[in-house]
Amino acid sequence: MLGERAEVAFLDYTQVPFFNQDMEFPVPLPVAQVREAVSRADGVWLFVPEYNHSLPGVLKNLLDWLSRPNQPGEATCLFGKPVTFSGAGGAAGTACVQDHLMMLLSVLGMKMMAVPRTGIPLSPEAFKSNCLSLTESQEGRLRKQAEAFLTFLD
Ligand SMILES: Cc1cc2nc3c(=O)[nH]c(=O)nc-3n(C[C@H](O)[C@H](O)[C@H](O)COP(=O)(O)O)c2cc1C
Repeated sequence: MLGERAEVAFLDYTQVPFFNQDMEFPVPLPVAQVREAVSRADGVWLFVPEYNHSLPGVLKNLLDWLSRPNQPGEATCLFGKPVTFSGAGGAAGTACVQDHLMMLLSVLGMKMMAVPRTGIPLSPEAFKSNCLSLTESQEGRLRKQAEAFLTFLD
């Protein structure tokens, strides 16, 4: 949907350890790498499932690491960074986790595009088949969000 108007990179954060302030400095390599990737990006688009009406622990852990600087007193890679988010989950289409994200991303000082955003309720078939197929209207909403985010980045 972004086509060639944006270069998109998927952030792999599988190697990021559980946050523990005793190991905050020196910065663990996988943490330095995700911070560097976020710093280089013009914007961040989060795609989230919903766990018990909130964020999956692994995503919260990533955001906790990113919310801290490489050196005490420095700016974080999230501060002022443009961000938008979408989700796919149960019947409510990740409405609850998206509300939580709005609060969290504001606290982190991110430059948030909260509207439009997209929440996709997965059908029982999608859960069984592990295949997400979008309806025309869901695809339209994602397209609208992509357009709006490109404008927001400008
Ligand atoms: C611990 C747990 C809690 C969940 N809570 C919710 C929930 O509150 N709302 C919802 O829509 N789906 C919930 N789900 C279903 C997830 O949205 C679904 O399993 C999704 O596919 C998880 O995506 P992931 O495999 O990328 O983590 C929950 C799943 C788990 C494992």
